[in-house]
Amino acid sequence: MDTGLSGKHVIVTGASGGIGLEVTRAFLVEGAKVTGTYKRSAKPFDDIKRDWPDHFIHLKVDQTSEDDVRDLFDAANRKFGRVDVLVANAGIANHEGRSIQEMSLEQWERTIRVNLTGTFLCSKYFFANLERLSDETASLILVGSTAGFFGEAWYVDYSTSKSAMHGMMMSLKNEIVHLAPRGRVNLVNPGWTMTPMAEEALTDKDMTRRILQTIPMRKTATPEDIAGAIIYLASDKLAGHVSGQTITVAGGMEGRVLFSQHEIDSFEN
Ligand SMILES: NC(=O)c1ccc[n+]([C@@H]2O[C@H](COP(=O)([O-])OP(=O)(O)OC[C@H]3O[C@@H](n4cnc5c(N)ncnc54)[C@H](OP(=O)(O)O)[C@@H]3O)[C@@H](O)[C@H]2O)c1
Repeated sequence: MDTGLSGKHVIVTGASGGIGLEVTRAFLVEGAKVTGTYKRSAKPFDDIKRDWPDHFIHLKVDQTSEDDVRDLFDAANRKFGRVDVLVANAGIANHEGRSIQEMSLEQWERTIRVNLTGTFLCSKYFFANLERLSDETASLILVGSTAGFFGEAWYVDYSTSKSAMHGMMMSLKNEIVHLAPRGRVNLVNPGWTMTPMAEEALTDKDMTRRILQTIPMRKTATPEDIAGAIIYLASDKLAGHVSGQTITVAGGMEGRVLFSQHEIDSFEN
């Protein structure tokens, strides 16, 4: 099926991560030009650089820095022209869960700064690029999490940063059309996905059992599952009339297992 993405210029933030790398590859397969960002190491891009030398560039970006984000869009515009699609995917999660009483202000502010303020900055310069280089269509895809919908005990910093993506989407879908009349803003909420971010939890058998009890399909997602939803939303041919929508990619997840049988039994006694 022709997605119409060939020749489009896409920025994928956090392209060096588990989901970002697969999303980058999927856009390149569709014939798009991709500017991918990383923060620590460009090593994950070795294969992509070899396979798509003319369609891919990568840049080191800390999305908490406005200068970095401004430079990202300047460099991307110079190399491949107008950015047609932004996949705001970069994010962090603390590996260790903490109750709110034990969570430091520093941790809270760091998570909000990377996940929320960083997404704000990337969206801001994406829109500025749309204002400078006008065209009919554009697509912003925010990456949230099922944690933003169901909540996530011991990770209130992360779940709060992700639930804010909904408000951002609902506001920006009504702003983007002033810059690109057929512009669209949507949100993808992945559930548990096997990547470096979730590896520790998903290699813990008890934790995995707990997670799978809430998922009718009884499996976690692959990065390819998430990339599929993002490609769909980015495509004006497939999703040209879809804006302000959330696609949850989580195998039908119902929510959270809050207590084990043992904990319930000891509560009743
Ligand atoms: N995996 C899951 O189960 C899951 C579930 C729900 C939602 N998500 C969301 O999906 C997105 C991708 O997650 P993932 O699982 O692919 O995680 P990941 O493998 O840890 O990748 C995270 C990416 O974000 C980049 N990054 C981190 N801090 C940054 C900063 N300050 N500025 C710019 N980039 C930064 C990382 O760059 P470096 O690696 O170079 O540092 C990396 O490319 C995240 O927004 C995450 O919250 C993931």
